[in-house]
Amino acid sequence: MPHQILAATFDRWAAAGRGAEMESEHGDVARQVIAGMGIRAGDQILDLGCGSGWATRLLAKAAAGAQATGIDISPAMVAEAERLHSNTIRARYAVGSFEKLDLADARFQRVFSLEALYYAPNLAAALAEIRRVMKPGGTLDVVNEYYVENEGTAFWPEQTGVPMIRLGEASWRAELERAGFTDVSSRRVVDSRGLGDPAHFRPSACYPDWRTWNDVHSAGFLWLHAVKPR
Ligand SMILES: C[S@@+](CC[C@H](N)C(=O)[O-])C[C@H]1O[C@@H](n2cnc3c(N)ncnc32)[C@H](O)[C@@H]1O
Repeated sequence: MPHQILAATFDRWAAAGRGAEMESEHGDVARQVIAGMGIRAGDQILDLGCGSGWATRLLAKAAAGAQATGIDISPAMVAEAERLHSNTIRARYAVGSFEKLDLADARFQRVFSLEALYYAPNLAAALAEIRRVMKPGGTLDVVNEYYVENEGTAFWPEQTGVPMIRLGEASWRAELERAGFTDVSSRRVVDSRGLGDPAHFRPSACYPDWRTWNDVHSAGFLWLHAVKPR
């Protein structure tokens, strides 16, 4: 049931054009993180909660011969990703859930997830699945703007209408360690474009007014990094 509700919610987001809106809101931070992931030629990369697939395509383009797979619970988001796909990019997209990935064991060197893992109805099951599909020595990079220390995001579950996991930085790290990952680290990433001009501020669902936008922007995104042990 929770997965059906998530799929229906994000199908509505896709229909409302929020895939493109998220690309604009998250694109700068995604580029900073992808540049720091050290993606190598030929890497197999998984993008969990890929939405309209824009970050999946950036991941596939990060190194020669890299291949990216985007998974999302929302069929409409996956359809949008396929519509926006270019055959010059080594990426594919599929409908699926974090908790039950239809993917082979030990397939990926890299797993990336942006603004998505906090929707997992069962975070422990999702992390176990992520670990299963990663190669030993593979890396996991999770990027969340919704976390306890980012107080301006606290209202988001009311706004989205779906449950969201609200953890602080230390608790996210503890969850990753509990799931068997090592070398767990975290840092904040702030959108390098800055706040912009208040006169041109356009309210959105997540940033309904200038003050909230200031608070959320300055807190930054939480970037968690972890390694699957060899
Ligand atoms: C806030 S959007 C972020 C999309 C994309 N990463 C971006 O930044 O544009 C969250 C995405 O995660 C997907 N999602 C949420 N829960 C999921 C789950 N349990 N399994 C798979 N995908 C899920 C949603 O369908 C949605 O497209």
